[in-house]
Amino acid sequence: MIVIKAGILALIWAAFLLVNGQPSPEELAPLLAGLFDRPTQEASGTATDLQKRVPLMTDDPTVAPLIDLQVFAPPVVPKGGTSCTVKLLEHSFGVDSFNKPAIVSYLPPVSPQCGKVGEWAAISLNLSVFSIGTQYDRLGAIYLSHTEIWRTSSAEPTKTGTIWTTIKDMTKYTPLFAKPGDLMMDFGNIVDTSLLLDAAFDVTITATFYAPTKAFPTPDAPDLIIPLSNLSPTLPNFFTVDNDAGATTVIDIPDTAEEAYVEIICSGNSAEEFWYLNTPDEFIDTFPPDAGLIGKGPFREVQVLVDRQLAGVVWPHAVIYTGGITPSNWRPLTSFGAYDQPTYWISITPFIPQLLTANRSHTITLRVQGQGSNPSINSNWFVSGSVHIRKGKGKVTGKLTKHEVGPLEIKTTGGATAGNKTLHTRVTAKRKLVVEAELKTSHGRQTVTFTQDLEYTNEADYEDEGWIQRGAQSTIGTTEARHGVRLVLRDAFSYPLAVFSNYSLFTQELGGYGSDIHQNHTRALQPPFGFQRSIHSVQHAKGQIGMDDWPGLRHAINGTGETTQLFAYSDGRGETYFRDVAAMNDGWVKDEVWGTLKDANPPVPRSQIFGPGGGPGFRRMVARGRR
Ligand SMILES: *[C@@H]1O[C@H](CO)[C@@H](O)[C@H](O)[C@H]1NC(C)=O
Ligand SMILES: *[C@@H]1O[C@H](CO)[C@@H](O)[C@H](O)[C@H]1NC(C)=O
Ligand SMILES: *[C@@H]1O[C@H](CO)[C@@H](O)[C@H](O)[C@H]1NC(C)=O
Ligand SMILES: *[C@@H]1O[C@H](CO)[C@@H](O)[C@H](O)[C@H]1NC(C)=O
Ligand SMILES: *[C@@H]1O[C@H](CO)[C@@H](O)[C@H](O)[C@H]1NC(C)=O
Ligand SMILES: *[C@@H]1O[C@H](CO)[C@@H](O)[C@H](O)[C@H]1NC(C)=O
Repeated sequence: MIVIKAGILALIWAAFLLVNGQPSPEELAPLLAGLFDRPTQEASGTATDLQKRVPLMTDDPTVAPLIDLQVFAPPVVPKGGTSCTVKLLEHSFGVDSFNKPAIVSYLPPVSPQCGKVGEWAAISLNLSVFSIGTQYDRLGAIYLSHTEIWRTSSAEPTKTGTIWTTIKDMTKYTPLFAKPGDLMMDFGNIVDTSLLLDAAFDVTITATFYAPTKAFPTPDAPDLIIPLSNLSPTLPNFFTVDNDAGATTVIDIPDTAEEAYVEIICSGNSAEEFWYLNTPDEFIDTFPPDAGLIGKGPFREVQVLVDRQLAGVVWPHAVIYTGGITPSNWRPLTSFGAYDQPTYWISITPFIPQLLTANRSHTITLRVQGQGSNPSINSNWFVSGSVHIRKGKGKVTGKLTKHEVGPLEIKTTGGATAGNKTLHTRVTAKRKLVVEAELKTSHGRQTVTFTQDLEYTNEADYEDEGWIQRGAQSTIGTTEARHGVRLVLRDAFSYPLAVFSNYSLFTQELGGYGSDIHQNHTRALQPPFGFQRSIHSVQHAKGQIGMDDWPGLRHAINGTGETTQLFAYSDGRGETYFRDVAAMNDGWVKDEVWGTLKDANPPVPRSQIFGPGGGPGFRRMVARGRR
């Protein structure tokens, strides 16, 4: 029996009222009400010894693979109609898989159960991965006909096997699935026993196509999708961006394009993986370089430019991968977005008249702006996107009437205490953008507008020569597109993140490091195609890693980790999904799921629940180096 304390709801409400109006209380209400209105759960059983899985690198002979997961709301699909599931790809990413994507040809399914090609009610993709051994987290991307449709990362597996499955709604990509093409998955992995990295990723991707029903007709989907990618037939298709030029694609849209939206997928990598913890250049010399602080500040803006004019920006949610900050925090429960990164929308409809002027070629540029000089970023970001177009019946004409894109208002302040003992930095940024055009389409004249109103704050406190850092970041904003009075895109979000990391003992023999992380993802999204959806995810993770003194690479010898997540989803069709889940020391502690979609993504089996103390944690033999 779960007893809910009324105080919890009051607390959640109070926290929201403090958020500066984004998303609106109306958008949040169903999420909070649903979290509160939790059905009574059966008492959690606990695993018997035999069913218990073992932690990484111990010699326990049991072999039940650990179920690892990123919480997601399952796709909404018709009930009671017909469907078909086809296997698209089966591939093991092991030795020699770096920069070697798996590529197979794709053909639309023809069996009558699937529904007519291109008229599906829904399409979902199931990405399922098994991995056994030791491996870092690796980045993956799935492309259909050179359009990126999924950015993922991996689990850090266990010695007895780890399995994770994520299901993603692909209905908006119907025009791609309706045509023969290539399916590419890039999951660059390095298997090298001299580095103790022996785990491959065995990937299975299946697609399920649902025929429409009376109650669930074919939804609105784009008529055309144009990739913003490097189009390589053999190499990963996202752009690698490490300078201010960004990546430019020449595009040619049809004369009858009435609406055009850019979907963006972006992630920081290498010196940009933890961009939100990077230090402003003004203060990077406060501490000796040993602690490895990275410069160019914590603010990042991904920009979309049409013919070199700024059309819109993305201030992304910081996705923390499973090896991020403290790996033991994220196994078996990952951070939000680790296996299915959020994507973002910009309307470029106001630029359609310009994009249709035939006497020159037109471009779309994806660029990342940081806080270095010029203002540069470190190396690097992986960025790609696609243009989703809705066509009308006649040639579209018109003109851009407003392009109010002021400079980014960004301010960096801070200072060190006497003797550079501690450092405080504060970065704030604001951006307002209004783009408007008059369009003449087959439906008549219309004013189309795209607006963004975004606010950012990042405060960081450092001590112990930079080995201890507290970073607190808030990113809130609203992006909207209207055609006449009709709202065609709304993205209202709040992505707070607070990271405490302690590397004080990092360089010591048998030293270690740890962290304590709070991260939320609250977003009400009306995408340009498909139903409105709102998500509220509240996560807390903390953990410690102990290390040996092996020369060269430092090896983790033990670790503890604890992660909790409260997740709420509701959408414009009245579907809901709620989850209250916790993991500790490589074992599941609790997992409760409710809401209308609960059966499509149920809790982990009771046999994997270790009970309140969590699992045994991660430990292995100490390796000794120079003596
Ligand atoms: C996340 O949301 C919870 C509940 O509303 C709140 O208590 C917490 O402070 C938020 N976390 C951050 C990092 O703002
Ligand atoms: C996803 O795919 C895996 C591997 O093919 C399969 O075992 C699993 O049952 C599938 N899950 C769902 C919900 O379809
Ligand atoms: C103290 O920090 C400032 C930058 O904040 C730096 O310029 C200066 O060199 C530092 N002093 C020492 C002794 O490291
Ligand atoms: C393209 O054509 C338009 C209309 O004829 C003209 O105003 C514009 O200057 C031309 N642009 C270029 C680059 O030639
Ligand atoms: C950092 O971690 C070390 C080792 O666990 C501990 O002694 C120290 O108190 C921690 N510092 C802070 C500020 O928590
Ligand atoms: C990790 O191992 C070290 C060295 O044996 C030990 O001092 C430390 O307490 C261990 N930590 C955990 C969390 O087990």
